[in-house]
Amino acid sequence: MAIPPMLEIVDLWKGFNGRDVLCGLTFNVQPGEVLGLIGPSGCGKSTTLKLICELIMPDRGEIIRRSNEIGLVFQGSALLNSLTVRENLALALRHRRYSKAEEEEIIRNKLTLVGLIDYIDAYPTQLSGGQQKRTGFARAIVNNPKIILYDEPTTGLDPVMSTIIEDYMIKLKDELKAASIVVTHQYSTWTRTTERVLLMHAGKSVWEGTAQEAIESDNPYMRQFAHATKEGPMLSGLL
Ligand SMILES: Nc1ncnc2c1ncn2[C@@H]1O[C@H](COP(=O)(O)OP(=O)(O)OP(=O)(O)O)[C@@H](O)[C@H]1O
Ligand SMILES: [Mg+2]
Repeated sequence: MAIPPMLEIVDLWKGFNGRDVLCGLTFNVQPGEVLGLIGPSGCGKSTTLKLICELIMPDRGEIIRRSNEIGLVFQGSALLNSLTVRENLALALRHRRYSKAEEEEIIRNKLTLVGLIDYIDAYPTQLSGGQQKRTGFARAIVNNPKIILYDEPTTGLDPVMSTIIEDYMIKLKDELKAASIVVTHQYSTWTRTTERVLLMHAGKSVWEGTAQEAIESDNPYMRQFAHATKEGPMLSGLL
C-alpha cells in the first residue's frame, strides 16, 4: 500500500492587499523526503511556509498535515531578544512535560550540535547574525518535529557551518523520517539535501525534478534560474 504524503498542499491561494501571491500552488511531501522550494525573491516561498505552520491563513485551498509536530526555521531568526538562548529553546519545549534536568539536557544537546553551547546564557543581541541563525535552527528542531520547514537555513553562514547544518538536515531526515521543505538560494544546500526541487513562479509551481535534473533542465524557467541569466521568462519586467 502506498504511504500517504506527510504534507499535501492543494490549490493554495493567498493574497495581500488585493494582490495574489499564491495562485493555485499544489505539491506533496513524503515522509523522509526533503523538498527544495526555490524561486525568485518575493515569489511566495516564506508565505508558503507560514501557511503550512498556520502563522497565517490561506484565502483558498487545502493544507493536509499528517502531523502537528512542525518546526519552522525562520528566515530572520525570530528569537525573543528579552530571553537568553537557553530560555528561547525552553519556550519551544514548554508544552512537553520534561523535568528541569531533562529539559536542560535536550537544550545542551541541540546547542552543542550547532556549536553554541558556550552561548547558552547569552541574549540574542549579543550573538552574530550566523549565531542567531544557528540558535533559530536549534530551536526549530528541539522537539524533533515530524515536519520541518527551513527558510534559508544556511544563508549567510560560513562554508564549514553550512556543511554542518546540511549534514544535520540529512541526519534528521534519516533518523526522524521527517518530511522537510527547504527554501534556499544556496547551491550546496539544494544539491546536497534535497530529493526533489520545486521551482515557483507567479504563485505556482513551474518545474519539479531532482537537483541534477534541475541543473541539466532546458525548461526556460529552470534554465534561467539554474544558470542565473537575466534573459528568460522570469523577472522580465525588471530589465
Ligand atoms: N504580511 C504581509 N503583508 C503584506 N504583504 C506581504 C506579507 N507577507 C508577504 N507579503 C508579500 O508577499 C510576497 C511574497 O513574500 P514572501 O516573503 O513569501 O517572498 P519570498 O519568496 O520568501 O522572497 P525572498 O526570497 O525574498 O525571501 C511579497 O511581495 C511580499 O511583499
Ligand atoms: Mg522568504
